[in-house]
Amino acid sequence: MAEGTVLPSGQSAMAKLSIRDIDLRDKRAFMRVDFNVPLGETGEITDDTRIRATLPSIHYAIDHGARLILASHLGRPKGKPNPKMSLRPAAARLAELLGKPVQFAADCIGPEAEKPARSLASGDVLLLENLRFHPEEEKNDPAFAGKLASLAELYVNDAFGSAHRAHASTEGITHFLHPAVTGFLMEKELNYLSKAVESPEHPYVAIVGGAKVSDKIDLLKNFIRQADAVLVGGAMAYTFLKAQGHEVGASRVEDDKLDLARELIGAAAGRNTDLRLPQDHVVTEKIDASSQAEATSGVIPAGRLGVDIGPATRAEYAAIVKRAKTIVWNGPMGVFEIPQFAEGTLAVARAVAESSAISIVGGGDSVAAVTKAGVADKISHISTGGGASLEFLSGVKLPGVEALTDRK
Ligand code: 3PG
Repeated sequence: MAEGTVLPSGQSAMAKLSIRDIDLRDKRAFMRVDFNVPLGETGEITDDTRIRATLPSIHYAIDHGARLILASHLGRPKGKPNPKMSLRPAAARLAELLGKPVQFAADCIGPEAEKPARSLASGDVLLLENLRFHPEEEKNDPAFAGKLASLAELYVNDAFGSAHRAHASTEGITHFLHPAVTGFLMEKELNYLSKAVESPEHPYVAIVGGAKVSDKIDLLKNFIRQADAVLVGGAMAYTFLKAQGHEVGASRVEDDKLDLARELIGAAAGRNTDLRLPQDHVVTEKIDASSQAEATSGVIPAGRLGVDIGPATRAEYAAIVKRAKTIVWNGPMGVFEIPQFAEGTLAVARAVAESSAISIVGGGDSVAAVTKAGVADKISHISTGGGASLEFLSGVKLPGVEALTDRK
C-alpha cells in the first residue's frame, strides 16, 4: 500500500458483525435496504437491479426464520408523502422475485407499521413505506430512529447505496438496536472496495471521468496515491489539458481549478503514478443529439468543445487496461448519452470487460455504460452505490458502516 494512503479504517466487511453471525430465528429483524430504483412514467420499476441485489440477504433471513421488516427510501420526496415515490411497486416486484407474498405497510412508523410488524410470523416479509416521507429520516432524528427501532429486535444494513448518509434508518437506529450487522450485499461491496483501497493487486489502473474535477478531488488524490496508472476522461480532462497549456477551444473547463489540476499532475509525477490525459478528441459545435461529431488531434479548435476521447486515446487506454490486475472505474469518458459521443466510453467498457483483472465499476453513468455496452456480466463487481462507492474510494468513512457492531 502506498505511503500516505487515506483508508476508511475499520470499513472492511471483516471488521463488522455479519448477518451470518447472529441468530435470526423468530426474531423481528429490521433490514435497511436500498430500493431507490428508477420508476417509469406510469410508476413501473424500470431497473430492479437494487432489489435483486438484496435477495441473498432476504432469502437468508427468511430461511433462518426471521420475521423480516424491510425499509428503504425512494427518491427525494422532501419529507412529505408523495404517491409517486411510494415503495408499493417495490413490494410487488419483490414478491414476484421471491415467489411469496410481501406485505406492505402504508407508513414506516406508527400503528400502520406497528400492527403488521407485530403480527409477522417466522419467514414473513413486510416492506415499510418510504422512510423519507418523514423529514426526521434525513435529519437523523433520535425520536424517529427510536420509533423505527421499536418495530424490531435486531438490525441488518444491506443498503450499501445509502451508507454514505447519516440518516435515522442508517445511523440513528443503531443506537437503539443491537446487534447491528451487515447483510450480504453490504459485505460484498465492502470486500471488493476495501480490497481495491487497501491491498490491490498491481498493476492497479484507475479510470476516472465525469464532468468536473471539483466533484472528484479526493477520489483523484486517492487514485494518484494508490494506483499505478490513472486514466482521465470526460469533461474534467479539459481542465487538466488547459492547465498544461493545451488549446481546448470551447470545452467545459473549471477555470478556478486549473491550479488544483496542476497540483494533481505534480503529485502524480512525484509518486511516479502514470497519469494519462486524452491525446485526441471527439469534438462538436454544441452538446445536442443532432450535433455532428468531428475527430481532432490534440488541439481543439476555437468554437468546438470536446465531448469524448478520440480513437488514439481509446487504443492507448485499452492497452494500459489490458496489463492491469486491478481496475476501478468511476465516470464516463464523454457525453455518452448521445450515441455519436459514446464510443470512447463504450470502448473503455469493452476493454475493462476483456481484461482478466479484478474490475470494479461504480457511479451511475459508468454502470449504465457497461450495461449499454452489453458487458455487465464480465465485470467482477458493479457497485450498487454511486455516491457511496465514490465516497468510499475517496477515503471517506461511511457513517452507515461505522455505526455497525464491531466484531470483537
Ligand atoms: C443513491 O441512489 O445513490 C442512494 O440511494 C442514495 O440516494 P440519495 O442520494 O438521494 O441519498
